Amino acid sequence: MWLLPPLLLLLIPGSSAVITGPEEVSGPEGSSLTVQCRYDPGWEKHVKYWCRGAAWSECDILVRTTGSEWGVKEDRVFIRDNQTTHTITVTMEKLRQEDTDTYWCGIEKSGSDHGVTVKVAVGPVVAQCRYDQRWEAHVQRWCEGAEGSGCTVLVHSPGPEAKGKRSAVYLRPEERVFTVAVHD
Ligand SMILES: *[C@@H]1O[C@H](CO)[C@@H](O)[C@H](O)[C@H]1NC(C)=O
Repeated sequence: MWLLPPLLLLLIPGSSAVITGPEEVSGPEGSSLTVQCRYDPGWEKHVKYWCRGAAWSECDILVRTTGSEWGVKEDRVFIRDNQTTHTITVTMEKLRQEDTDTYWCGIEKSGSDHGVTVKVAVGPVVAQCRYDQRWEAHVQRWCEGAEGSGCTVLVHSPGPEAKGKRSAVYLRPEERVFTVAVHD
C-alpha cells in the first residue's frame, strides 16, 4: 500500500512537462499578440527566452530575461517573467506576415534547455469594421452567410477571436473595431 501514491504520480500523463504553452496563437498584421508559457516551481531564477525557428537546436533567440522579473525588450518583442505565478509573457508588436513561424518558450539550464513550441500565425487584413460609441453597450457580432436566411455568428463581443478554416476574426472592443485576417 505504501508504494501506491508515488506510482500513481508517475502515471499522470504530461506531469513531466516543465514548461507548457499555447499550441498556436494568431493575430492580424499590424496588431500585437501575447503568448503566455507556464513553468514548474523551481525554475524561477533561470533565464527565460523566446526563440524563433522550428528546430530547437538552431532556433534564433530574439529576447531573453536576466533571470529576474525585469522585462526585456528587443526590437518588437518584449519578455517578462513572473516568478510568483511562474508565467513567462511574451508580446510581439507591430506584427508582420513574415513573423509567421514556429517559436519556443525556453528555460536555460545546464545540459539541454527546457522548451515548448508555439506556432505563431500572422495573416493579412482583408476587412476591418469600426462601430460608433453609441453601440458600445450592445453585443457586436460578425456573421457569415446571406442576410435573411440566418447567418452563422463567428465571433461576438466581448470577443476576442474566432477561427474559420482559412480566416480568423478578431474583435477589439476597446478600439471598437472588428478585424478579419486570412491565414494559409
Ligand atoms: C505577478 O503576478 C501577480 C498576480 O497576477 C501580480 O500581483 C504581480 O504583480 C506580478 N509580478 C510582476 C513582477 O509582474
